[in-house]
Amino acid sequence: MVQTARTQVAIIGAGPAGLLLAHLLHLAGVRSVVLENRSQQYIEERIRAGLLEQGTVDLLIECGVGERLKRESLVHHGIELRFGGRGHRIDLTALTGGRTVTIYAQHEVIKDLVKARLDAGGEIRFEVSDVSVHDFSGPTPRVRYRESGAERELACDFIAGCDGFHGICRESIPAGVLTVYDHHYPFAWLGVLTETPPVSPELIYTHHERGFALFTMRTTRVSRLYLQCTPDEDLANWPDDRIWEELRARLGTDGGVNLREGPILQKGITAMRGFVVEPMQYHRLFLAGDAAHIVPPTGAKGLNLAVADVRILARALAAHYAGRGMDLLERYSATCLRRIWRAQRFSWWMTTLLHRFPGEGPLRTRLQLAELDYLVHSKAASTALAENYTGLPFDD
Ligand code: FAD
Ligand code: PHB
Repeated sequence: MVQTARTQVAIIGAGPAGLLLAHLLHLAGVRSVVLENRSQQYIEERIRAGLLEQGTVDLLIECGVGERLKRESLVHHGIELRFGGRGHRIDLTALTGGRTVTIYAQHEVIKDLVKARLDAGGEIRFEVSDVSVHDFSGPTPRVRYRESGAERELACDFIAGCDGFHGICRESIPAGVLTVYDHHYPFAWLGVLTETPPVSPELIYTHHERGFALFTMRTTRVSRLYLQCTPDEDLANWPDDRIWEELRARLGTDGGVNLREGPILQKGITAMRGFVVEPMQYHRLFLAGDAAHIVPPTGAKGLNLAVADVRILARALAAHYAGRGMDLLERYSATCLRRIWRAQRFSWWMTTLLHRFPGEGPLRTRLQLAELDYLVHSKAASTALAENYTGLPFDD
């Protein structure tokens, strides 16, 4: 016997998109259930993004999940671009009329959102399996899944596909509906989490003949470091000594580098991909976050885009339940995609500017250096960078 339950919005995936959507809907008086195939501990420890745009921080604070963020995060007013052996600061705050970015790990955002949902009596079903979505082209969608071995069904009005890039929702939309844009960059990032204090209080994006490197952080005691590597890189080729040597070489300036070695807590490879599907909805199934789009992490936009999508989706669903019709829901995809394409463009631009392309000739490197030189010396060019980096306005 299949056990059946009912809710208003069935949300697949407890990443930033799914959890924030559930929280925003709760504030608007709309009921939801979140179905997640991993355990609570797993999602609360999964190491991913770390940089929040101003608009993301403002939204988390406004909706009441920003208390720990306000206490524990690191607010940044600038970044450094390092090339030709020298560092150049971009003053984000001065160039944008006061905007900042904030370092606060994605899994900390997840912990705050899970706590807010559970404290409010919200339903997150962890460790479910075999999730499948049905009948979303009509008024009575259903989600089927297994929990502790038992088959269950959730009847709902809408399904939110917040199940990330490898989820099942996007694939459940009939063939021919979606236009897919997909680009693989010819390199990847080796990401390292290490217990060592940041070498600098601000992020450093480095253009170097050995490849791109990014120096970022999680706290005043933990650094997050990234090195450009090949897409098929084997982690076994990166013993700790090689990582430190390469970081030192790429981050080094004419004045040397102040990098202290510490225990490496975690290593991983992140592929670099640009991916968008259009539209992001099919009747009563709505895709949000990585389920609909992926950006290369150079622009630090992935998590921020997921937040922007669900902000728009929550408003549209709330308007529908308040009796204001389906208009906002019908425009959901078009509203989100405008900002998504601008973020995709910015991420592509940052990636192309800073990475070494396999087989590239010296001309391309000189053009990158000329553009970087222009960027750090032109107020117009650095303003464009600062506006995009701190986050374009929400379009609603
Ligand atoms: P996700 O966070 O992927 O959440 C989707 C959730 O759905 C997951 O919890 C998953 O377990 C669950 N799920 C999947 N399939 C199912 C299913 N069938 N049934 C039920 N649940 C399911 N961005 C940056 O800006 N900077 C970075 O440094 C950075 N590093 C990253 C490193 C990695 C390894 C990855 C994968 C992503 C990284 N990103 C980074 C991107 C950023 O983390 C994502 O854009 C962000 O997590 C998107 O949130 P989301 O909620 O849309 O998807
Ligand atoms: C991070 O802190 O993990 C981070 C920051 C900026 C990026 C990418 C990742 O562009």
